[in-house]
Amino acid sequence: MPQRPLSVGTNADADWWRQAVVYQIYPRSFADADGDGIGDIRGVTSRLPYLADLGVDAVWLSPFYPSELADGGYDVADYRDVDPRLGTLDDFDEMVTEADRLGLRIMVDIVPNHSSDQHVWFQEALSAAPGSSARARYVFRDGRGRHGELPPTDWPSSFGGPAWTRVPDGQWYLHLYAPEQPDFNWDNPEVREDFHTTLRFWSDRGVAGFRVDVAHGLSKDLAEPLRDLGHALSYQPDALPDDGSHPLWDRDAVHDIYRGWRRVFDEYQPPRFAVAEAWVRSSRRAPYASADELGQAFNFDFLNTPLCAGAMRDTIDTALAHAREAGATSTWVLSNHDVVRHASRYALPAGVGKSGVEAWLMTGGREPAADLNLGLRKARAATLLMLALPGSAYVYQGEELGLPEVADLRTEDLQDPIWVRSGGRVKGRDGCRVPLPWTREGANHGFGSGGSWLPQPAGWGSYAADVQAGDKESVLELYRAALRLRRDLVTDEALEWAGTDADTERGLLHFTRGGGWHVLANLSDAPVALPEGTVLLSSGALSQDRLPAWTTVWTHA
Ligand code: GLC
Repeated sequence: MPQRPLSVGTNADADWWRQAVVYQIYPRSFADADGDGIGDIRGVTSRLPYLADLGVDAVWLSPFYPSELADGGYDVADYRDVDPRLGTLDDFDEMVTEADRLGLRIMVDIVPNHSSDQHVWFQEALSAAPGSSARARYVFRDGRGRHGELPPTDWPSSFGGPAWTRVPDGQWYLHLYAPEQPDFNWDNPEVREDFHTTLRFWSDRGVAGFRVDVAHGLSKDLAEPLRDLGHALSYQPDALPDDGSHPLWDRDAVHDIYRGWRRVFDEYQPPRFAVAEAWVRSSRRAPYASADELGQAFNFDFLNTPLCAGAMRDTIDTALAHAREAGATSTWVLSNHDVVRHASRYALPAGVGKSGVEAWLMTGGREPAADLNLGLRKARAATLLMLALPGSAYVYQGEELGLPEVADLRTEDLQDPIWVRSGGRVKGRDGCRVPLPWTREGANHGFGSGGSWLPQPAGWGSYAADVQAGDKESVLELYRAALRLRRDLVTDEALEWAGTDADTERGLLHFTRGGGWHVLANLSDAPVALPEGTVLLSSGALSQDRLPAWTTVWTHA
């Protein structure tokens, strides 16, 4: 296929991603054009004008590939096709053409750590003999115990339970996630070559970049004997060693894989770009993001940082320093398809922490009581803060509508494998994946005519895009105004802190960007004086010359 031009405005701009706003679409929950209750590619195409109007630069699509949906599409059966329930490759091409016309770039999700168990290679591996080349594309081993009845190691799956499943001939295969997601063996050149083919396949179709799933997991220490983890069973970034010595995660050898990917990206003009989903210590993020590897690495620190000035300032400084070290820019993320939506996180009493948020979900959102008004106020303040930072902001579908988490989904409706694998102890991620409300009225609030694969809750219509459009006070109009202004305001990648330590202690974050752009976030319970200059935008109503509690303002000196 001839290479399609990326005809987006600044076509030749290889650095478009450095300060871009990228909108994440979870395709099954975005818009359903064919009315089967599942969002699809034509649904995405139909809503691209909305995204252009919102003012984002690029759209990242979570997986839309053929999948048995054991993990919402992150179990890929064919990396170079579209799931028939979501459309066809022609639909995909039409989407890219429409995106080009609107000046939007398309990014796709690549899931290289594991395939689906329905992938033709895994099916071949199952019917092949132990020791065969078909099995060598995955990680098969004999078990321990007299009859091999015990898993080869103590490695846990990230979704709960052991990371090994036994096949009828007695061998075990590795899956760091669900059993339906067997891990590839990246020591195998055939696996490496096949992913290069996949990267070229989508690049040839006009895709501008890739989000790389579980980027820190591909390289494993598979030398015999495999090493048990003993007590160090946690996969949390801070529990990982800082020298790359973990047998499974963030090993130095993984970087060789991405240097190979960079050579593929650089075959294109402009070169393709990628962002790593790497749950590693922040001090080990830089190599993933370097110019000879993927280009950028997700910084998820806002997901776990309380909305308090000191902690936010430290997080921002650390992220900027690590991005600089890599020659990259930082990313900023308040929500995505794996976490409780931030309008709800901020609605919970300060200090509940990550486990408190999980516990809240388990009570169906009843305990502790959430203050949704305050949560939304804080979410708006956090958004204006995030959108003013140097680097790229990743916006998750529906956050521009101020959607809360749907915490009270009935357990029989849950689809996330975490729910079953944890034996009903962890509710999982479905509450942030409920199909979007586009219209107050109409079937499924405009999502599609044929139902909704996760039920939309009562009151969902009050968040609909058509209710908010044109209402100056709405979250949607706040995002639109901020993104419009940001286009003009963003200059270089520098940030200067303006406040004193005492200001930070009072809950204030004050910084300036090039060209006289001032940003003041009041993360405290009391009003404060406005910064100098003309007010451009604020996350909540101002009272004369005061900046109210939990409000961020942009001014121009
Ligand atoms: C990533 C995805 C998540 C998925 C997991 C396994 O963390 O964001 O949704 O479950 O990888 O592919």
